Amino acid sequence: MTLTDKLTQPVFIDGAWIRPLIQGGKGVGATNGASAGAWAAENAAGTIAAIGAAIGYDKNGREIPYSYTSKTRHGRFEEMLELSIKGCLLQVDMAHAARKDQGRIRINFLKMAGGSTRVMRDVLSATRLPDGTNKIHAVTMGAGLASEEDAQICADSGVYLDPIISSVMALKVLLSRSFKHWKGRYADVIGAVVYEDPWLAGGHNGITSRENPDAPQDPYERVKALRKIMNSNGMQDVAIIMAGGVWYLRDWQDWLENPEIGPIAFQIGTRDLLTKECPISDEWKGLLFEMKEKDVVLNKFSPTGFYSSAYKNGMMRELSDRSKRQVPYAQEFSNSMNEPVEGVGVPVNKYRISPDDKTKVDAWIAQGFSTPIATPDNTIIFVTKEKELEIKSHRAECVGCISTCKLSTWCEDASKKFSTGKRPDPRVHCIRKGLQAAIAGDDLDNALIFSGHNAFMAAGDAFYHGEDGGVFIPTVKQLIERLTTGD
Ligand SMILES: Cc1cc2nc3c(=O)[nH]c(=O)nc-3n(C[C@H](O)[C@H](O)[C@H](O)COP(=O)(O)O)c2cc1C
Repeated sequence: MTLTDKLTQPVFIDGAWIRPLIQGGKGVGATNGASAGAWAAENAAGTIAAIGAAIGYDKNGREIPYSYTSKTRHGRFEEMLELSIKGCLLQVDMAHAARKDQGRIRINFLKMAGGSTRVMRDVLSATRLPDGTNKIHAVTMGAGLASEEDAQICADSGVYLDPIISSVMALKVLLSRSFKHWKGRYADVIGAVVYEDPWLAGGHNGITSRENPDAPQDPYERVKALRKIMNSNGMQDVAIIMAGGVWYLRDWQDWLENPEIGPIAFQIGTRDLLTKECPISDEWKGLLFEMKEKDVVLNKFSPTGFYSSAYKNGMMRELSDRSKRQVPYAQEFSNSMNEPVEGVGVPVNKYRISPDDKTKVDAWIAQGFSTPIATPDNTIIFVTKEKELEIKSHRAECVGCISTCKLSTWCEDASKKFSTGKRPDPRVHCIRKGLQAAIAGDDLDNALIFSGHNAFMAAGDAFYHGEDGGVFIPTVKQLIERLTTGD
């Protein structure tokens, strides 16, 4: 059997036999109903990003922007949920129409997104069809583990739940906790298990405290171990979707028809950005061809607390420099912490630092990084006055887009009075602003450009070389044909 023959063998995913090719969901708005529908129409699986789903388009096909009117954070949170539901329903209808009864439509929710369970419940109940099926075939959920309630909502709506996990440990926790009522019948609700390589995938990464971010592990060995656990739980026929670092499928030949791996499909995240249907700007697509190896960095700047992978542009460099301009401080004078900070607009006795740190702090202040901001870890960072105002404005405009935010300290739990109770952390970004700037495409140097670590492959891939010497951007159909050749 040739590689193409193997890659055309269907695999059972989310209730249907489809090609082993899955579109990775990408928020904010980097996958939508049209692009997901195009994947499904090829008898593959398309994935709508629920986060930041567009609520409408103008006559030129551009997304209608929305702004928040409420003066309170809680009011804006409620507005966001309403907009999210509206956007998801529009995108699901578009995908449903575009799939032409082929393939599968999935929708991606982030567990840590503010109100994700509420949005999911409302969307899944509104997308049910009269015959008891659903326009959505599966929910994929990452950035946190799905709860028992999430699994039940999916089951009640006739929708599979495809958990996204990055370790065997995460699957074990899920099976014993969120899917405990499906013991022995996991395949009734789990349509596939997405293994997302925590060292290579774009977006948020599931690296745990047991793993070293600087020491990537072989995905083959990790997926082999995952398959073993799945088989011992009666999940022999549940496919694994390998996500992260997948570019040329010829590099994954050993995984096909391999009993150690079992039924397998491949999730395409970054490569899918380079399609005509992908709604990101031409500038962002162009940027992908400029990326070099190691230009995508695993970092801890997400306000979710998770690792994430993004292109090292001006925004990433500024965040990294901000964290480097950091020293411990004390509020009380002591023998070791006895030097004042003489920044702009800072009462001279507010922060005490060590004599060793004094010289570098004075140098930062002299360079214009004259505003200290305290972190939750008894340290202060130094930024310019303008950056301090930007950080403050991002906090003030918070809409509660993630359930517990390190930057704004918003927590959606009413019993905690909507606050994490912690000090705001000025070392992380406002993820909503960063991702919206990326999709707006105006100033990509100051936007959050989530990318897989293999993004640099685009530049050297002959597929994207146009006949006229320019760049060739394929349709989803052309990409799928190409992937099926192994290239
Ligand atoms: C721009 C971008 C945004 C992403 N957003 C999400 C997201 O909202 N939810 C999610 O589960 N995964 C997200 N991902 C991860 C992808 O779905 C996919 O699993 C990953 O990109 C696969 O790795 P690859 O980029 O090496 O192909 C995102 C990836 C990228 C590149």
